[in-house]
Amino acid sequence: MTSVPVRRRVEGDINSSRARVAWQSGHLGREGRAIVDADARVFLRQSLSTPVLNAVAKAQGIYLEDVDGRRYMDFHGNSVHHIGYAHPVLVDALERQLRELTFSPRRYTNRWAVQLAEKLAEITPGRLQRSLFAPSGSDAVEIALKLARLATGRYKTVSFWDAFHGAGFGASSVGGEEIFRGGALGPLLPGTEHVAPPECYRCAYGHPDLDGGPRLEVCHLACASYLRSVLEREGDVAAVVAEPIRTVPIIPPEPFWAEVRKACDDNGALLVFDEVPNALGKTGRMYSCEHYGVVPDVVVTGKALGGGIVPIAAVTALPELDAGADRAIGHYTHEKNPLLACAALTTIEIIERDGLVARAAALGELAGRRLAELKTAHRLIGHVRNKGLLMGIELVRDRASKERATDEADAVLYRCLELGLSYKTTMGNVLTLTPPLVVEEHELERAFEILDQAISEIETTRR
Ligand SMILES: Cc1ncc(COP(=O)(O)O)c(C=O)c1O
Repeated sequence: MTSVPVRRRVEGDINSSRARVAWQSGHLGREGRAIVDADARVFLRQSLSTPVLNAVAKAQGIYLEDVDGRRYMDFHGNSVHHIGYAHPVLVDALERQLRELTFSPRRYTNRWAVQLAEKLAEITPGRLQRSLFAPSGSDAVEIALKLARLATGRYKTVSFWDAFHGAGFGASSVGGEEIFRGGALGPLLPGTEHVAPPECYRCAYGHPDLDGGPRLEVCHLACASYLRSVLEREGDVAAVVAEPIRTVPIIPPEPFWAEVRKACDDNGALLVFDEVPNALGKTGRMYSCEHYGVVPDVVVTGKALGGGIVPIAAVTALPELDAGADRAIGHYTHEKNPLLACAALTTIEIIERDGLVARAAALGELAGRRLAELKTAHRLIGHVRNKGLLMGIELVRDRASKERATDEADAVLYRCLELGLSYKTTMGNVLTLTPPLVVEEHELERAFEILDQAISEIETTRR
């Protein structure tokens, strides 16, 4: 078995085309095959998006249904489906909005856009107050980068290797993934420094972990110290840009962000948190940075903000960073689109009304127990981790060497699909499970049964 370097596989969804083709030949019906083949003819190809796996006919609640009528619990959903797909309250609100006001040209405003900005000021941490909206998380990250330049008069950034912040040139520059930055895609933005992610299970500084957790008495938080030293040596960094908790998931040790916050303050750098996939309750808090008690200067919200129906993202910043009055920093056609704003407002209302943040925290407790049980039962599992409903299962060939079990992860993914569970594999070997916050307890339990069965079968066949 040849192992492909992880650099090429970062965020890779489906590692091996052989496994995909085998799955498709066993599962696609005539219509599914026709749509998948047509997709391959009409779309420009790009890594991670093509070739596609299957064709969707319906998306409702936590379920996807393919054109052949097969149903899957969707534990990926590109992190847009916190309230479930096609939530009836949201669909009704959008139908009403379609009859009321559907567009708002530049220099006009409307009450939905204003109310959304007010709502974001209320739910984002600390004193974050002024917002701009954008049609995607990627565009919102570009706004945050421009704002950081204008507010500080500096242009450099520090961010993390392997991170993803969006597909634009700015977002790709602060991102740390080869497929978005490498080859003829360069050169990217200057001054975008990168450091290793704070990942205790695979500590880049070589420190041992305690069952995947930090051993702070040994490592003394070397990851935060190194980041501080980069800020000090560069001397003129505009912003540290990061996800507080990465979707892999990578869950930094508890004191990490407080240390980074202090290093930013000591060096005149802003702290920009990209919460595009994990804000709005996924981790059991409205914003994942709340787990660390750290407030950024700028936060980016996206994905689930559109309720899984429309695309909308937002940048929300401290009022004193409002430095772009004589520059255009995010001049998007659909900036104050009332339909998009209505979707976001209604989505937040549903999350608040139905107590979905607390629900994610409670279900996260259950998930944590089931993950630990899975690890005990399967030697293929090297590490499990979760915050709320953001869960990861790291498959390794050997617990001591931690060699990534990428082919095994592929096999588990396709077996789970057969059993009705869809999710994403990250870094080649991390089963990344991010169900909607409306998932029922019995559905979560069923997902763990499927994982248990699939992992057992793959362990048996590969013994
Ligand atoms: C952390 C993070 N930031 C930004 C983005 C970009 O968002 P969008 O795809 O809406 O441009 C993503 C998308 O996956 C993301 O995960």
